[in-house]
Amino acid sequence: MAASEQPRVFSGVQPTGSLHLGNYLGAIRNFVDIQDDYDAVYCIVDLHAITVWQDPVELKQNILDVAAAYLACGIDPKRSTVFVQSEISGHAELAWILNCVARIGWLNRMTQFKEKAGKNRENASVGLYVYPNLMASDILLYHANFVPVGDDQKQHLEITRDIAQRFNNDFTPEGEEFFPLPEPLILPVASRVMSLRDGQKKMSKSDPSDMSRIDLIDDPDLLRKKIGKAKTDPLPLPDSREELETRPEALNLMSIYSGVSRQSVEQTVAEHAGRQFSDFKSKLADLLISELEPIRKEFIRLKTDQAFLDQCLREGGDKAAERAAPVLGRAKELVGLR
Ligand code: AMP
Ligand code: TRP
Repeated sequence: MAASEQPRVFSGVQPTGSLHLGNYLGAIRNFVDIQDDYDAVYCIVDLHAITVWQDPVELKQNILDVAAAYLACGIDPKRSTVFVQSEISGHAELAWILNCVARIGWLNRMTQFKEKAGKNRENASVGLYVYPNLMASDILLYHANFVPVGDDQKQHLEITRDIAQRFNNDFTPEGEEFFPLPEPLILPVASRVMSLRDGQKKMSKSDPSDMSRIDLIDDPDLLRKKIGKAKTDPLPLPDSREELETRPEALNLMSIYSGVSRQSVEQTVAEHAGRQFSDFKSKLADLLISELEPIRKEFIRLKTDQAFLDQCLREGGDKAAERAAPVLGRAKELVGLR
């Protein structure tokens, strides 16, 4: 099937630091798995990154690092469209229109804003507050039908649908549904990888403890050390899913194992019931190393080839621009702009 006839997928990752196992299992590995079945557009969302202050020198490098990580994980820039958000001005232009469509009440419900802004909400950037409108713009600008993301982005997909629906209602002539309502693609396993230090907290780039996450650039020794020191409880591994649900650290490690080995959590429980954590951790570390070590090596190789990365992003930008231009043009026309 020609790319133009396939349903379209859009997703993005922020260039805000090195990528971790949550990004990989929750999002990027899924991007790779589905790239042949969809017209896939994968973005490095640098405009989202600057909603909190970024060191400009580091940001430039982080953008290339996400490009290198995408390719190292298996995204094929020939089959998929890989590009940098700020290079396509339509994202910001459509976001402005959507700023005028979304309601303040909708934004006030966003839990990610509340978490990121913390106690000092008055001091958060306005960009952080309207972040979901920019995300809606990313998705709608490509008329994406599906959006592969981790579980934490569910609410942002809901508001995207609300915005699309409101735009369609307010501006689209009867019978024409201009923006398709996008569906999230959230995997049943490992869509929310938790911190290795606290099974109730999400694994995150911004956690001050390096030991809380597995980074895609961790070498085998460091990875083994992090899994070895991961928090557990004193009991042997549970023998039922019900018991697992009451033990957050065991649940996290067993979910990671299941995600990487592409099996259900029930299967992992059946295989390891009653074993000691030390035994399980050593198997988990082996499994992670065999999955991640080829990616790490390829990532390091690609990082040294900036000319190649630049060229991929240029070509990806051209493909993205072609897709975005007619949608932005029609959106402006529908609103009554020239
Ligand atoms: P970000 O790093 O916030 O740009 O996230 C990029 C993608 O990774 C998004 O689809 C997130 O939902 C996903 N993601 C981030 N952290 C996790 C996590 N701890 N578990 C699963 N998915 C995650
Ligand atoms: N908000 C997403 C995150 O923090 C990143 C993102 C921006 C995104 N625009 C997007 C994801 C569009 C999917 C589709 O992880």
